[in-house]
Amino acid sequence: MNVLNIKNNELYCEEVSLSSIAEEVGTPAYVYSQKALTERYNELDRAFSSVEHMICYSVKVNSNLSVLKILSDEGAGFDVVSGGELFRVAQAGGDLSKVVFAGVGKTYTEIQEAIKQNIAFFTVESIPELERISTIAEQMEQTARIAVRVNPDVDPCTHRYITTGRLENKFGLDVEAAYEAYLKAKEMPCIDPVAIQMHIGSQIVQTKPYEEAVQRLVFLVKKLRAAEIYLKILDIGGGFGILYENEKPASAEEFAAKIVPVVKELELKLYLEPGRFIAGNSGVLLTTVQYVKKGPEKRFAIVDAGMNDLIRPSLYGAFHNITPVVERNGEKKLYDVVGPICESGDFFAKDRYLLPVVQGDILVINSAGAYGFVMSSNYNTRPRPPEILVSKDRFKVIRKREGYEDLIRGENE
Ligand code: LLP
Repeated sequence: MNVLNIKNNELYCEEVSLSSIAEEVGTPAYVYSQKALTERYNELDRAFSSVEHMICYSVKVNSNLSVLKILSDEGAGFDVVSGGELFRVAQAGGDLSKVVFAGVGKTYTEIQEAIKQNIAFFTVESIPELERISTIAEQMEQTARIAVRVNPDVDPCTHRYITTGRLENKFGLDVEAAYEAYLKAKEMPCIDPVAIQMHIGSQIVQTKPYEEAVQRLVFLVKKLRAAEIYLKILDIGGGFGILYENEKPASAEEFAAKIVPVVKELELKLYLEPGRFIAGNSGVLLTTVQYVKKGPEKRFAIVDAGMNDLIRPSLYGAFHNITPVVERNGEKKLYDVVGPICESGDFFAKDRYLLPVVQGDILVINSAGAYGFVMSSNYNTRPRPPEILVSKDRFKVIRKREGYEDLIRGENE
């Protein structure tokens, strides 16, 4: 599903022209399509429909309350990694019994809050953490359900910063240590080991890393059965990749074809934690060209969005396709598309062939629905952009643009 379409030589999100959004709310602005979000969710849901499954949307990816509400209405559960994310899910009216809680550094308070909310399970990432959860559950006289996060040590063939399932990564426990953790958990009176979890990385476009990793978990599930530990849930994490440039990401059906038979054979319920797959291509960042500056070596299109608004190109060298809202005639030329921030790393594209752009043109930075606004900051004391949700021929502001007062809130002279 492509979030954008062209009408009368102009880009539209669903039935709303992007120029009209830019005119009304200004730029930079994030724009999301409700249709794209629900279609992507349902694409996954359908692909895995032959097994009992739960899609826990990964809140870190795009945590706007409206986005959470839309997905909750579709039936989604949620993957959270902080007390703040758990709070967001509650605020959005999400079903907290469908929440899984991951992360290597859960605090005492976060664990307490999540036990109080009776979440589906914690994903345990270390023995000290297991001990902490057990202690808190005992104090609260409650049972805490857990999964152990297994680090299967497979190469997901993605960017090294978003690889998480290798032994050099801080996440989870290796297969042997995970086995020991389950034996320990079994002896803890207030811990109920219900699931096994993995998350091997993000923007994974091939099925093979999942196949390999899942096999290692199957081995462990069987070994645990021999030790009379009967898990009910296999949680394969997130990571399904999307199209940014010219990747050929496997489809939901292709991922399902490798994973479903395993789940069936073991008679487990499947949990998934997708984020980017649902939100990535459901959103764009709108920005206006402030100046075109021709240097001795480069032509710069200086735009009003900066690395503080969308950091992926600066942080990972990530590719985001850039297109004008209204195309100009002429030959494509090489541009660096850069922001106003005082850093050379503040760019959205380098040496990119674009149709001619002039001051005042509105550009679309594509595939910005995942890890976009959520990773934004106020660096250079810049108010963060608004978030806009389009549904059919309407749009609404689902987070307003910050003002100067927002920038100093909580500060003292
Ligand atoms: N589950 C867990 C435990 C995770 O750590 C993550 C992402 C997900 C699910 C969702 O993964 P997804 O389906 O979106 O790939 N900021 C980086 C990506 C960081 C991924 C962090 N964990 C980026 O912009 O590419």
